[in-house]
Amino acid sequence: MSEEIELGYTADYHVHLRQGKMMEVVTKSVTPGGVSIAYIMPNLSPPITDIDRVVEYKASLEAISPKTTFLMSFYLCKELTPELVEKAAKMGAIQGIKCYPAGVTTNSTDGVDPNDFSAFYPIFKVMEDNDLVLNLHGEKPSVSKKHGESHESSEDIHVLNAEPKFLPALFKLHSDFPNLRIVLEHCTTKEAIEAMHKLNSDLKAGEQPKVVASITAHHLYLTIDDWAGNPINFCKPVAKLPEDKRALIGAALSGKPYFIFGSDSAPHELSKKSLHIGVCAGVYTQPYAISYVAEVFHQYGQIGKLKNFVSTFGNAFYSIDESKLKSKDKCVIVKKEFKVPEVLIDNNITIAPFLPGSTLQWSVEWTSS
Ligand code: DOR
Ligand code: ZN
Repeated sequence: MSEEIELGYTADYHVHLRQGKMMEVVTKSVTPGGVSIAYIMPNLSPPITDIDRVVEYKASLEAISPKTTFLMSFYLCKELTPELVEKAAKMGAIQGIKCYPAGVTTNSTDGVDPNDFSAFYPIFKVMEDNDLVLNLHGEKPSVSKKHGESHESSEDIHVLNAEPKFLPALFKLHSDFPNLRIVLEHCTTKEAIEAMHKLNSDLKAGEQPKVVASITAHHLYLTIDDWAGNPINFCKPVAKLPEDKRALIGAALSGKPYFIFGSDSAPHELSKKSLHIGVCAGVYTQPYAISYVAEVFHQYGQIGKLKNFVSTFGNAFYSIDESKLKSKDKCVIVKKEFKVPEVLIDNNITIAPFLPGSTLQWSVEWTSS
């Protein structure tokens, strides 16, 4: 009999499921990818900033993937008010708010200036009081907009240092809102990992962290050489240096409750990845999300620690009430290899998955409840 590991209610705390035809294609891949709970990003066009839209979006996702528990978020921008956020929180329409610094990635033009969050402090206060999560895209933009004009940052910011340069803003937010739950999303640098250890240095055994970082599957594989010249591996934040990758793998394997899984699976049509100008950022991992992560844990002889990373720690941080899950099926990974297709074609949409053509060793199955 092949080896099997039960992973419980697996969760992916950073998912892009898009809209329209693309939504129909990629939402179907959440369950086969081994994910029971999916935390949905709001960077649609236009971004999600009101209750009706978030409720409607959730219903469309549930219609496509009825066994997934969808957790929803708003997009932090000027349109949000403390009253609206409070109402959405009390209704249970959202579990958090995503903050995109303006201009750093896909559909982030309506985002915020991380050099000064003070305009959003009334919203953060309401979030803290209503136990909502603040999800931070942790990169400082190299160009900022003032009075409609673009200004280059005086700090020489570029794709390699944008995350470390953002970290002081994270420390300030945590010190100004010590009870606000914050996620540093898709962290990519050893400086970010060190920051997480520092922010949690007083955490006692069994205590819940207030600040955690999510780590993607692809950043456990990639370094700068893998995306320079390969648009399939290009995403934001970009994968960094070998020492950064080692720090991320160390964090995922660390057994610390402040490192959780969030795939940042971000599909783009192959035609938008094959441009000679303006390649879209994003790596598509959803259909094999848990298998990609299992491969790395296996490679390091730590498959027994996978459940903590892909279910226990994230679910504890997000206070998941298991009685409210859409499905009680649990994810099981089975030692059975399979090949990742070169491309996925469905509904006239072609997408290249991460690691096209490669063989992965752990397949996903589900227990039925
Ligand atoms: O690579 C990325 N793609 N990073 C993000 O932050 C957004 C995402 C997208 O929506 O395509
Ligand atoms: Zn994302």
